[in-house]
Amino acid sequence: MKWWVKWGITYTLAHLPGGRILHHKMVRSFGELAHLESSTRFANTEILLEMAQRQCGTIEGKIVAELGTGWLPAVPLGFFLAGARLQTFDVVRLAADEIFAKTRDILASRTAEISRASGVPEETIRARLQQIAAADSLAAACEILDGRYHAPYDTTSLPFDSGEVDLVVSNLVLQCIPNDALPAVLAESWRILKAGGVALHRIRMSDEYAADASDRNHLEYLKYPDRTWDRWFNHSLKHINRLRASQFLELFEQAGFRLIECRRHTDFDSIPFLKQLELAPQFRNLEWDDLATVGIDVVLQKEA
Ligand SMILES: C[S@@+](CC[C@H](N)C(=O)[O-])C[C@H]1O[C@@H](n2cnc3c(N)ncnc32)[C@H](O)[C@@H]1O
Repeated sequence: MKWWVKWGITYTLAHLPGGRILHHKMVRSFGELAHLESSTRFANTEILLEMAQRQCGTIEGKIVAELGTGWLPAVPLGFFLAGARLQTFDVVRLAADEIFAKTRDILASRTAEISRASGVPEETIRARLQQIAAADSLAAACEILDGRYHAPYDTTSLPFDSGEVDLVVSNLVLQCIPNDALPAVLAESWRILKAGGVALHRIRMSDEYAADASDRNHLEYLKYPDRTWDRWFNHSLKHINRLRASQFLELFEQAGFRLIECRRHTDFDSIPFLKQLELAPQFRNLEWDDLATVGIDVVLQKEA
């Protein structure tokens, strides 16, 4: 699909009464949710489980807060199967019951991968799947596995005591939080973490409208000044802050985190394209590699 068709439909629905409901229907019928088995979210979950296992030794019994549940709850369910006591939060309630059920079924076909990523025996994972076999919603499954699904919820004020949480995780969420809200969300995750606790964030930094579109480079969105971007591309159905890797890393440091690991995914092939693009003023003093970094997986620590 041409990028501007995708953009036009989303923009129109965001400004129509009842547009949110129509948008939800469209995403479920034609988007990634229509082909759940090929969704990258399952592989993403295994990456996060591996990162968590490497940092914490075991995920079993750990208190975990997930930011940004989303539509397809593979990450929260994956952590539950690995034994976490998890609470998941989103500003919008998106995890529909039928998507929850399909996600659980797909996870049931990936127990070997989850076991490998989390270090938890496959029989234990299967036993936990059995426990939630009759659950009809994500909220019900969370309750059974000693957790909770909170949405809509303000993630700048989470229901944990200071220092209560072992792990904060998010998958493809921080790029969706408005610039003016992000410092408060990071400060809140720092507050709830134990001293020595870690936050794992996977962040994507490219234009979602350009994904799978042959008529647009996924970094072309860096040409718009903020005013234009906010006016035409950010709305109630989608928000992308366009922060670059160096800017995220600076915000993490300002929130008090120590960066332990940062895996970068840089699209070096797009650098010649960027060099001929008229970049918006706020991106002009950044390095080419930084501008072309389209994803980072970070491990942050609240120092003991
Ligand atoms: C691209 S989706 C990713 C969802 C999910 N983590 C996944 O992997 O599929 C981004 C999610 O972030 C959520 N979000 C946006 N702002 C947020 C905030 N301030 N706190 C928590 N979640 C937020 C959105 O509602 C949306 O569900």
